[in-house]
Parts: sequence; C-alpha cells; structure tokens
Amino acid sequence: MNDNLALPVGTTLDRFIMRKQEEFPYATGELSQLLRDIALAGKIVNREINRAGLIGIAGAFGQQNVQGEEQQKLDVIANIRFIRALRNGGEVCTVVSEEEDDVIHTGNKNGKYIVAIDPLDGSSNIDVNVAIGTIFSVYRRVSEMGTEGTLEDCLQKGTRQVAAGYLIYGSSTMLVYTTGHGVNGFTYEPSLGEFFLSHPNITIPKNGSIYSCNEGNLNSFHDGVKNYISLCKENNYAARYIGSLVADFHRNMLKGGVYIYPATAKAPNGKLRLIYECNALAFIVEQAGGKASDGSKRIMDLEPTELHQRCPLVIGSSEMVAKVEEYLKAEVGINSFSV
Ligand code: AHG
Ligand code: MN
Ligand code: MN
Repeated sequence: MNDNLALPVGTTLDRFIMRKQEEFPYATGELSQLLRDIALAGKIVNREINRAGLIGIAGAFGQQNVQGEEQQKLDVIANIRFIRALRNGGEVCTVVSEEEDDVIHTGNKNGKYIVAIDPLDGSSNIDVNVAIGTIFSVYRRVSEMGTEGTLEDCLQKGTRQVAAGYLIYGSSTMLVYTTGHGVNGFTYEPSLGEFFLSHPNITIPKNGSIYSCNEGNLNSFHDGVKNYISLCKENNYAARYIGSLVADFHRNMLKGGVYIYPATAKAPNGKLRLIYECNALAFIVEQAGGKASDGSKRIMDLEPTELHQRCPLVIGSSEMVAKVEEYLKAEVGINSFSV
C-alpha cells in the first residue's frame, strides 16, 4: 500500500506527484494537475491567513483592500480562491463547498472530477490566531462527459473518493493527502514557495492516550459517550480540543488519539458535515491504518442524501474508535448515536 519508499524526505510536492503518476501507465495526469491546483490555492490562502492580523489595520483606511474590493472574511476569501483555482485548472466539472448552498459548475464540461471542499475549517479560530485548515475530497464523475455535473455526482459515498486531503495552517503549513496508496505529508517552505515531503507514509498509532471533544456539551452526550469519557479520565488520558477539526485530527494522527463529535441537544445529527469534512478525513485515517465511524457505521459507507448532511463523527486510532463503538452499543443496544 505504501509504495513511495524510494522518495526521500525533502522531495518537492510537484516531483512527488509526477513520480506517483509515472507508476500508473494509463494515468492521464488530470488528477495530478488537480492536486497541484489545490496546492497552489493553498499557498494563496496561506498568504491571506498570515496577513489576517493586518486586515483590520487596512480596514481602518476604509474597509477596502488594494484592489478596491471590500474586505471579506477569510472563509469567504478561501472559498473564492479554491473555486477559482479549480475552475482555471479545467479538470473539475463541479465543485460543492460548505460555503455555498448549491453545486457550482465550473464550465469545464469535460472535467472528469468532482471536488467537495470545506475551504476554511475552524471558523471560530480564524480571528484568534489558532490553527485552521482546508479539507477536500475528489470523486470521479458518474455523469456523462461533455455535460454539467449532476447532484448524483456530488452525492457519492465516501468509498468512491479517488483522493482526499487537508491543509493545516498552523505553526507551519502542511498539505496531507492520499490517493488510496497511503498518506503523505508535505511542509510548506514559505521563502521558497514550495511544499516538501516531510511526513512520508503516515500511520496512526493503533492506540493512544488523547481524547478530543467539546466537553462543554457533555450533559447532552449520549450515555455511551459519557461512559467512554469517564474511562478516558480513569486512565488519565490527556484532553486536547482545539476546535478546528483539521488541527485536532492532525495531532491525533501523529500522536494517537480519538476525536469525537457526537450528537448533542444543539446538533441532534452531529455538527460535522459528511461530504465536506467527515468523508475526506475518514479516507485519510483509514489509509493511515485508523478508523472513522458515526458511532456504529463506517463513515465511508454512509449514503449521502443531501449536500449539507451532518453526521456524528468518531475518528482516530482504530482501537479507540472501536472502544467508543463498543460503549455506545452496550448502552443503547440499537447502535444509535442520537440523543
Ligand atoms: P467550520 O469552521 O468549517 O464550520 O467547522 C467547524 C467545526 C470543526 O472545525 C470543529 O471541530 C467544530 O466545528 C467545533 O465545534 P464546537 O465549537 O461546537 O466544539
Ligand atoms: Mn469545518
Ligand atoms: Mn468551514
């Protein structure tokens, strides 16, 4: 599965993508180009994020940027940047974004691919200098080439993803992605403007001692989740919750841990979105040897019925996710995660 042993740490993302493509003699290079488009938009968004603290200062001069455009919030800016990159790239016929109500047709009717994206994840952390991210999934269209993409193209199950990844804008900026052959992480070198392979063949520890959830909602968690959290405390696990899914997920991938966003009174179906957030991270975690569940079912087997569908999420180290499922099953017997 992990077949890039020959590629050393320090390989540039472009070279890595090119070498991977060469391993598939019939590859047309379109997916490679799509990944490059996303990386390019990621660099631009990274630049905007690094300047975020100055936006308010510039705003004091009249709420407009140098191009005379109104200042916009970073999640809107990120949405525009990624859609623009995917439209210009030409490989994608349709994009669905957490920031948009409906599907976005790029005009590239011969684009083979569909992209689902959460352009800026961790909105509550944008203005307070805490790590945020971008999450994306890539699907092959099921509709005919030469036409616009359809809703059916966008409502495919997670198992049909051909690639998924995330960018994390943290103490350093990283791109982590999979095309179904293991997971690789690239760190951005801003002075060179390049991503370099820094985390080859990422695997998540089978077990860990970190649990991540918004315990402020504990009163409305299902008893099975409450019991699991008590177990974490009995075992002196560390509680770590940033409030940016990407950042919590990334830490747990590297160190071992479990992230739980269950159903709550406020969000009876969970808060996170199946198509923009859960499926991508589920593909990545499985490729790294971990597990992703809605409390009883594998996330990637869930059948999407609407674009902005939400689901509970338990994701991370395989043994920890299995334990949460066991606790939920013991408590309800009906494999239900709802409150
Ligand atoms: P988004 O910023 O894309 O809307 O996602 C926010 C999500 C996720 O990043 C995070 O883990 C979760 O919301 C935090 O929710 P709570 O504030 O309810 O804990
Ligand atoms: Mn999000
Ligand atoms: Mn978002």
